[in-house]
Amino acid sequence: MNTLSAKRLLLVVTGGIAAYKAPDVVRRLRDAGAEVRVVMTPAATAFITPLTLQAVSGHDVREGLFDPAAEAAMGHIELARWCDALVVAPASADFIARLRLGQADDLASAVCLATGAPLLLAPAMNRQMWAHPATQDNLAALRERGVAVVGPGSGSQACGEVGPGRMVEAETIVTAAGALFESGRLAGRRVVITAGPTREAIDPVRFISNHSSGKMGYAVAAAAREAGASVTLVSGPTGLEPPAGVHTVRVESALDMFAAVRAALAGCDIFIATAAVADYRPAQAAAGKIKRDGETRTLELVPNPDILASVAALTPAPFTVGFAAETHDVEAYARAKLERKGIDMIAANLVGEGDVGFNSDDNELLVLWRDGEQRLERAPKTRLARTLVELVAARYAAAR
Ligand code: CTP
Repeated sequence: MNTLSAKRLLLVVTGGIAAYKAPDVVRRLRDAGAEVRVVMTPAATAFITPLTLQAVSGHDVREGLFDPAAEAAMGHIELARWCDALVVAPASADFIARLRLGQADDLASAVCLATGAPLLLAPAMNRQMWAHPATQDNLAALRERGVAVVGPGSGSQACGEVGPGRMVEAETIVTAAGALFESGRLAGRRVVITAGPTREAIDPVRFISNHSSGKMGYAVAAAAREAGASVTLVSGPTGLEPPAGVHTVRVESALDMFAAVRAALAGCDIFIATAAVADYRPAQAAAGKIKRDGETRTLELVPNPDILASVAALTPAPFTVGFAAETHDVEAYARAKLERKGIDMIAANLVGEGDVGFNSDDNELLVLWRDGEQRLERAPKTRLARTLVELVAARYAAAR
């Protein structure tokens, strides 16, 4: 499975002779399907030109924290939010020390501090600098915080010495970057996910539906797959590509979705309902196209089955996770829904305000379970989905 496909990666290039390998890293990350943006420290520009990295990444390269034009296009906070992961290659001894301290005196370090995305370091330095207790101590502290480190390799160095400190090859960095997204938390688990809107036919050409894009559900499906699960995605009509490695079943109506979910439930450990299922459908869909006759019309609607509640009512039931889109009183309504539907977890978000939620690339969630809650701050849906899947995996493990 290629976990870098469609991932947004920020490559941070710091000052060291190994910076000459950075274009190769960019090229291979892009070959693996990632979108790559590059930030350089001022010292890195002494080793390689921004123009080279701009050419291979296809995007402007950012260097300064105080460049008004660049900050207006994508400020350091947007950049920190934009990326699914950061790769620092090469990571100099100085940059590692500054990361450990949490400094933010240039764009590269500020972005590393401002992001919630996973971070991979590919250290490169003279062997004495690598072996120094200060460097080792800094790296131990960063590892403790969850920072991943690849390399360094050993061999002859640009400074003429021989020993550990060479940046690993680009291919190894690409593999390590992919591993950032593979937690294995759901290895051996079967997960069924619903996504997108449903369409309730009025006649052969008209339907009732809603604005759901399916983005959140597709992102959750991809994240569950990356966490090692075998995933079935039951999707209403969307314009999205099915996530790689996910068994995707396309449906139209709520009744179709219900049938497809039931067919997929055998051996299911976790059921995540992200779909915006229409609560009602026309009592009867006309066989032929309804003609305009100038008269007032009344459409009789009948309730659709609640797919999530009926899965939660099974014995034994899988671990069930619902979504709630609310326009106000998010926590109270979501908690009531958790109880009413008898589910294990609910992820609630505010819709109809600002630019998060339905049809947007970003979202923020309040996740509730019987005796706890966690707020997932605003982030791209892909990254939010990974955090949510980790949380689901943790609660699932605790519930068993
Ligand atoms: N859901 C479902 N089947 C339905 C309706 C909803 O599986 N027929 C699931 C959704 O996928 C989502 C959750 O239930 O996980 C949403 O709950 P719901 O009560 O339908 O939300 P709203 O329609 O927003 O409820 P309300 O009108 O009470 O706010």
